[in-house]
Amino acid sequence: MPTPPSLRIGVVIVAAGSGQRLGYGIPKAEVVLAGRTLLEHALEAVLASGVAAHICVAVPPGDTALTAICARAAGTVPVTAVEGGSSRAESVGRALSGLEPGLDAVLVHDAARALTPPDVFARVGAALAAGAQAVIPALPVADTIKTAVPCSPEEQRIAGEKVSGTPERARLRAVQTPQGFDARTLADAHRWLESAGSDAAGITDDAMLVERRGVDVFLVPGSEQALKITTELDLLTAEALVARRLRSAAPAGKESQQ
Ligand code: CTP
Ligand code: MG
Repeated sequence: MPTPPSLRIGVVIVAAGSGQRLGYGIPKAEVVLAGRTLLEHALEAVLASGVAAHICVAVPPGDTALTAICARAAGTVPVTAVEGGSSRAESVGRALSGLEPGLDAVLVHDAARALTPPDVFARVGAALAAGAQAVIPALPVADTIKTAVPCSPEEQRIAGEKVSGTPERARLRAVQTPQGFDARTLADAHRWLESAGSDAAGITDDAMLVERRGVDVFLVPGSEQALKITTELDLLTAEALVARRLRSAAPAGKESQQ
């Protein structure tokens, strides 16, 4: 197979959410995990992967702390900040407009997936370079997943809902970010979204947006470390993951001295 031409890739990091479910009273991307904010962890992984020609971060309106983090992270790769919107999709749209023009591809990443390893970014970038218009990282699902419907009024005394089906587990995937796209495909999809009104109801990620437009979305292996930090329990898991990384990075013998 011929070596694919290298692409100029922009990375959007959405960090404009308020972190209601974590409940710290500050934007989630500012929450500190093992001494550094979630945004710093996310930026470090993107930069370490080497895929990005430009990074644009959507920050909460009026933010100064995350904007300062972007300024500090900027170096060979420019890191800029734009104000996000009231939904994740709106934040993605605004950050897309903040990327330099002429990029071949864009990766959209959640700051909340702060510990996503650099090799996941590299896998998504490689699939784009090999010709994918859309590619997302995913993992097999461990739980059996059911679909549910509300119970009838007579059944309400038993329970609120009941099972309507069981999708075959072997075919289910839990999807993560970064989600990668041909730059024009994603820009067209977001332009449609801005004018779609109620047609856009229920679109929960960028991949779904391009799926609706008939684009094939390819899957590459994700990582358990790319968990979305949503609740306090996720933050505890993330702390354990960082501690394990630090242990495995420590020189041999150092651990036993502690
Ligand atoms: N996000 C964003 N702009 C929004 C909402 C979400 O940029 N208006 C980002 C978040 O910062 C996060 C990612 O989208 O990195 C995934 O969203 P989620 O995990 O739901 O984060 P929050 O919206 O901050 O959390 P919560 O829903 O608990 O308030
Ligand atoms: Mg949210």
